[in-house]
Amino acid sequence: MRRAGKWLAVAGVLFAAGAVTAAAPGVLSFPKDYRSWVHAKSMVISDKAHALYGFHHVYVSPKHLKTFQSGGQYAEGAELVVPFYEVDDKAGTISQGALKMVAVMKKDKSAKATGGWLWGAFDANGKTMEMDVKAGCYDCHTAKKDRDFVFSEWQ
Ligand code: HEC
Repeated sequence: MRRAGKWLAVAGVLFAAGAVTAAAPGVLSFPKDYRSWVHAKSMVISDKAHALYGFHHVYVSPKHLKTFQSGGQYAEGAELVVPFYEVDDKAGTISQGALKMVAVMKKDKSAKATGGWLWGAFDANGKTMEMDVKAGCYDCHTAKKDRDFVFSEWQ
C-alpha cells in the first residue's frame, strides 16, 4: 500500500508538469525533411525591394495536404515551409539561386498571441534567425485570418 501511495504521488507530479508544458507554446525547430514533403506551389518575386523577394516554394506536411487543398482549419502539428532562394535570371532563363532563408509556420494551439501558429525563420544552415515573429510574420498573415492565416492556395 505504501508503495502504491508513492507511485500515485509521483504520477501526480508528472501529470502537473505535463499540464504546465501543454499550456506553454512549443519551440519551433528546423524541419529537416521538408523537401520530401508535398510541394504545393512556387512563386518568383524578382523585385529586390519587395518584402518577399526571392524564388520560393511552398511545402506542406503530407498529412495536412487535404486541409491545404480545402483551405480549412489545420490540425495540431501541421507545418508549412517556404525556402527562399536568390533569383538567378540569365537573360530571361530564371532559376533558383543560393538558398537565403527558410520560413516555417507550425500549428500549436497554445501559441495564442500569434494565431495558434509558431512562426520562425532559419538561415541556409538551418540556424534560427532571431526576430520578432509577431511583427515580422504574424501581423502580415492576419490578412488571411479566415483561411487559418495561410496565403497560398492549391492550384
Ligand atoms: C509582407 C507580408 C508577409 C510577411 C511579413 C511574411 N509573410 Fe509569409 N507569406 C506571405 C505571402 C503573400 C505568402 C504567399 C506566398 C506564395 O503564395 O507563394 C506567404 C507564405 C508563407 C508560408 C506558406 C503558407 C502560406 O501562408 O501561404 C509560410 C510558412 C510563411 N509565409 C511563413 C512566414 C514567416 C515565418 C514569416 C516571418 C519570418 C513570414 N511568413 C512573413 C506574406 C508575408
